[in-house]
Amino acid sequence: MGTPTTRSLIASLLALTAVACDKGTAAGPDNFIGDARRGTDLVKKYQCGGCHDIPGIAGADGNVGPPLHRIGTRTYIAGYMQNSPDNMADWIEDPQRALPGNAMPRMGIPQKDARDIAAFLYTLK
Ligand code: HEC
Repeated sequence: MGTPTTRSLIASLLALTAVACDKGTAAGPDNFIGDARRGTDLVKKYQCGGCHDIPGIAGADGNVGPPLHRIGTRTYIAGYMQNSPDNMADWIEDPQRALPGNAMPRMGIPQKDARDIAAFLYTLK
């Protein structure tokens, strides 16, 4: 679900994915379910801020990975895969499966948590 703004953002990301998707099936807004509020807490719990500068998260000023400012409107994740809700959740769940050998570690995050975190990241525009 999410706010109307989030839904329209997701819809436009999906439109983009439909044009340039090389990953097969794209998610529809209806089957993207994420709780951005819970995602905010999970970002703190998993300490993403140790490696990323993340707006709205106290103390999240890491500089190991890229800042996540405006990640909600970024075209690509890690300069590699289309920024769709499904791809973002897959990235968070297992970045080593998504892009083997990249520097973000697999953190054992369940898909449900990954989707809530993705919903939070999509509030960063
Ligand atoms: C140990 C450091 C580390 C931790 C912890 C970490 N990341 Fe990352 N992350 C990285 C690095 C390094 C990259 C860059 C990967 C690349 O571009 O190949 C990255 C990339 C990303 C990207 C893509 C950014 C972009 O500009 O395309 C997102 C989104 C992301 N991380 C989210 C998270 C979230 C959410 C968490 C917590 C659940 C997290 N990261 C935890 C190191 C980390």
